[in-house]
Amino acid sequence: MNKNHFGKFYNNEDVYLFSLKNDNGIEVKITNYGGIITSIITPDKNGNFSDIVLGFETLDEYLAGHPYFGVIIGRYCNRIKNGTFILNGIQYNLAKNDGDNHLHGGLKGFDKVLWDFNIRKDEEKELLEFSYLSKDMEEGYPGNLQVNVTYSLNNNNELKIEYIAKTDKDTIINLTNHSYFNLSDEETILNHELKIYANYFTPIDSSLIPTGELLSVNNTPFDFTDFELIGKRIDYDNEQLKYGNGYDHNFVLNKKDNSLTLAAELFSKVSGRFLQVFTTEPAIQFYSGNFLDGTIKGKNQKVYTRRSGLCLETQHYPDSPNKINFPSVILKSNHEYKQITIFKFGVK
Ligand code: GLA
Repeated sequence: MNKNHFGKFYNNEDVYLFSLKNDNGIEVKITNYGGIITSIITPDKNGNFSDIVLGFETLDEYLAGHPYFGVIIGRYCNRIKNGTFILNGIQYNLAKNDGDNHLHGGLKGFDKVLWDFNIRKDEEKELLEFSYLSKDMEEGYPGNLQVNVTYSLNNNNELKIEYIAKTDKDTIINLTNHSYFNLSDEETILNHELKIYANYFTPIDSSLIPTGELLSVNNTPFDFTDFELIGKRIDYDNEQLKYGNGYDHNFVLNKKDNSLTLAAELFSKVSGRFLQVFTTEPAIQFYSGNFLDGTIKGKNQKVYTRRSGLCLETQHYPDSPNKINFPSVILKSNHEYKQITIFKFGVK
């Protein structure tokens, strides 16, 4: 594994950029600032290598602020209504950083902190392990939460992200990675084909908070149970698409337990690149990059216009702390939180 200096953090601490490479020439770069995956270089169907995620070349651009490119999100990814929840009879108040709601862990979530790092080895590959102690009441969340996130890349072209956490007081937790993919060199992801292993999704209100219902995807633009072009129905006259500004919805995966299963598959006919997402989580947020507006210039001077990248965020449902019928996001003290998500790269 290569480790290069990436720049200085606000407190003058050194920040590093690590590079994981496999025998097939795939390379993934990750920094310990925010645990950000800054680049993923994979071959297309003609064997030409290029970067398939949005992001920047320099640390300063990340420090200047951005829409969560490639980051680890925590303590709670996605939205919590009115930034408040009740746990064990106590009401906790979080930052309202998305209108009236709490988004992606608050003002200084796990995406904006410096993670400790450790490079380990198993029989087959090197592992990059990040750790962070989120203090009791940080961003309003109860409990000292010790979080470990481990990245590895094997020769089956699987980028594995393993999250483990422990708390000394009951808390809530929902971690994810927020990489924006574009598998081709086309300006948008509208020509990508997507399949999501979900027969239901959680419809939202106008502030993108789930209403609490589970709605069948059947006969809706949310039916991705077979490969479908993302651009085909995205501008349909549909209330849910209007609220989301496109796709920005939580899909309920067809599974009954927390086993590692295939959640989504993404394909670009133009490049031939194929991405599979496996997870132990019960849901996946499909966000079609609707808020990108051309004001950010990323790697290779590329302007990130609307829908130039998409996120497939494995997670628990948004606003679960306030929805009794959603799977629980409570982490009891001295219990272990564990999530595995795998991004597998291929060509067709
Ligand atoms: C998420 C949300 C979106 C948006 C992006 C960041 O995926 O669901 O609504 O906030 O993050 O821009």
